[in-house]
Amino acid sequence: MALEEGARSCLLRSRHRLEQDIKPSYLMDHMVSDGVLTVDEEERIRTQPTRKDQAVALLELLLRKDNRAYISFYNAMVKEAYNDLANLLHRDLPRVLPEAHFRLSDCCTPHVQAVLSEGGVPQRPVVFVSRPELVNRVREKLYRLQKEPGWVTVFGMAGSGKSVLAAEAARHHGLLEECFPGGIHWLSIGQLDKPDLLVKIQLLCFRLEQSLDSQSLHRTPNTLDEAKERLRFLMLRRYPRALLILDDIWDSTVLKAFDLHCRILLTTRNRSLTNSVSGAIYEVEVESGLDENKGMEILALYTNTKLHGLPEEARSIVRECKGSPLVVSLIGALLKEKPNRWPYYLRQLQQKQFKRIRKSSSYDYDALDQAMAASIEVLPDEHRELYKDLTVLEKDIRVPAKVLSVLWELEPEEVEDILEEFVNKSLLFVDSHNKPYLYYLHDLQLDFLVECVMCKISAAVLR
Ligand SMILES: Nc1ncnc2c1ncn2[C@@H]1O[C@H](COP(=O)(O)OP(=O)(O)O)[C@@H](O)[C@H]1O
Ligand SMILES: [Mg+2]
Repeated sequence: MALEEGARSCLLRSRHRLEQDIKPSYLMDHMVSDGVLTVDEEERIRTQPTRKDQAVALLELLLRKDNRAYISFYNAMVKEAYNDLANLLHRDLPRVLPEAHFRLSDCCTPHVQAVLSEGGVPQRPVVFVSRPELVNRVREKLYRLQKEPGWVTVFGMAGSGKSVLAAEAARHHGLLEECFPGGIHWLSIGQLDKPDLLVKIQLLCFRLEQSLDSQSLHRTPNTLDEAKERLRFLMLRRYPRALLILDDIWDSTVLKAFDLHCRILLTTRNRSLTNSVSGAIYEVEVESGLDENKGMEILALYTNTKLHGLPEEARSIVRECKGSPLVVSLIGALLKEKPNRWPYYLRQLQQKQFKRIRKSSSYDYDALDQAMAASIEVLPDEHRELYKDLTVLEKDIRVPAKVLSVLWELEPEEVEDILEEFVNKSLLFVDSHNKPYLYYLHDLQLDFLVECVMCKISAAVLR
């Protein structure tokens, strides 16, 4: 499909600025992997003598390409953090493709609001920044559920913004109309035992039945099996084209209760959770970081300041937060109360004094610790101890499996399995661009672990 007129003129309008600033080689990597640029085309552009010439050639080519290419170019800019430039293109993103279904104007129509609030989908947080590239990826996967049932899994570490993202992805007119005319139904799961799970499913069934016009007065299902059957009936017969959002799933047995051949979006820290369910599975990883400018935007919104009016500490604070939306928001909320404390919080972050920061706030600062503690808690005992050994890793150091094999005195194969488990549970990160793979902890995880181990030592000493 040829490039839409609006998109073409936007490219023409912005051409000069784009040519000045973009680094085509980075952008083209993404575009080739999206399949909108051939390797030959990339090569031809790369052989241009200067960066500027390459940019000119890329834009020339883009103007002759289609909507998909424009969208891919836009996404590549978002990925490479050319936020201002991406904004220039955002307004004219073509709409024909599923990927393009994220125009802001589409998000908050009264119809969308009504459907989401009926389904219990949480509102945006008061301070909210868009993450178009990620939202777009989730929506694109959701579109694949249009034709057949299946699962979209959003996974990542605690506080990386999964729940906010899942709700945001659903906030879209086109998606609701085309894929999920049966509505969106949100269920917060968390760590549950069987009786809790039964109550959750009972409530969901109740909600679904209530929304139907028929005055069906069904007996409340009393056992888990009955509840599952009831839900299966409702999803298959009454809500065949609805989306169920299961937020924060921990346990594959819980997930199995929802293995009903329906359409599900779930958030989890554990990537391998869907291994045991049937049907198509699409995954989106929320890597830990918000990009720096988004972090700045959050601070600006909390403190009611313009971006360029933020004090010089702002950027360092965002960096210290390592892009965790949760932590940036926590600091933002504190600064809102105490606007003169920028240098103080920066120092606290630099000295890793999360505890002190937490204590000075009414905000739910334990969120991150709790989330981390809970993730570690569910590991088998022996693996938990091994995980705690990772405190020996230095900040920003990445190690191959071999090093851990020495540390733990285990066979390499066994180490591989354990590392895979940690990675799947978002407790550890892997850099797979390297061979051998390199493993590392998020700074916050390392701080948490060190604090845990220190507390344990001091508790033991005091005893
Ligand atoms: N897009 C966003 N804009 C602003 N703040 C965000 C955004 N995403 C996440 N946050 C902040 O981070 C916190 C944690 O996000 P959440 O989605 O609950 O993480 P997760 O589900 O991965 O644990 C939120 O409560 C909010 O304060
Ligand atoms: Mg969550």
